[in-house]
Amino acid sequence: MRLPKSGTVEIAPSILSADFANLASEVKEVADAGAKIVHLDVMDGHFVPNITFGAPVVAKLREYSDLCFDAHLMISEPEKYIADFAKAGADHITVHIETTDDPIGLINRIHDLGCTAGITLNPATELSSIEKVANLCEMVLVMTVVPGFGGQSFMADAAKKCIKLRSLVDSDTRIEVDGGIDPVTAQVVASYGADTLVAGSAVFGKDNRKEAIDAILEACK
Ligand code: DX5
Ligand code: ZN
Repeated sequence: MRLPKSGTVEIAPSILSADFANLASEVKEVADAGAKIVHLDVMDGHFVPNITFGAPVVAKLREYSDLCFDAHLMISEPEKYIADFAKAGADHITVHIETTDDPIGLINRIHDLGCTAGITLNPATELSSIEKVANLCEMVLVMTVVPGFGGQSFMADAAKKCIKLRSLVDSDTRIEVDGGIDPVTAQVVASYGADTLVAGSAVFGKDNRKEAIDAILEACK
């Protein structure tokens, strides 16, 4: 599924907090609960100090799910791997501004591969670093934790970047936030203009995923 058009608040459950031995059923559960996007946290042990999974896992999962696959590449030299993720079935590919000297070229390449594109920045990175490229993307991701691990505390100052970002990008550009999102922080970022909320532990860490998703959505109203 393609990235949903702007105008709705969407929860993007991150499989980082799911049962990796049962990914297909985990993703089906959040799809049944109404999620349209699933967030795929790809870590390489180099750009971030943790390793998760690569394109072969995405390709296999693609056989079991029609959701929008939102691949968040926390990897060095993303230009070497974006084609693999597109081929594996990623619908949307986000790269970190810290990993490239040629963000425009990278975003064009993601589009050429038939995917929507995203740019993101670490909490310590200035918003000005993405100003020139944000509007080339269908969705811009604001990191509200230092990437690498699930279950970290929400960084309120980093989230405030959403306010300026909302004024910089077109109204049909989605703003996604990632890290420490729960019903309380969701309300904050929604008020800043974020409309796509990644949630790992607040969804897959709960027994009832539908109740968990509904609670976050309800808090954004
Ligand atoms: C952090 C990842 C996040 C993470 C969020 O490096 O990019 O997507 O899974 O996890 P929670 O929602 O638990 O903070
Ligand atoms: Zn992520």
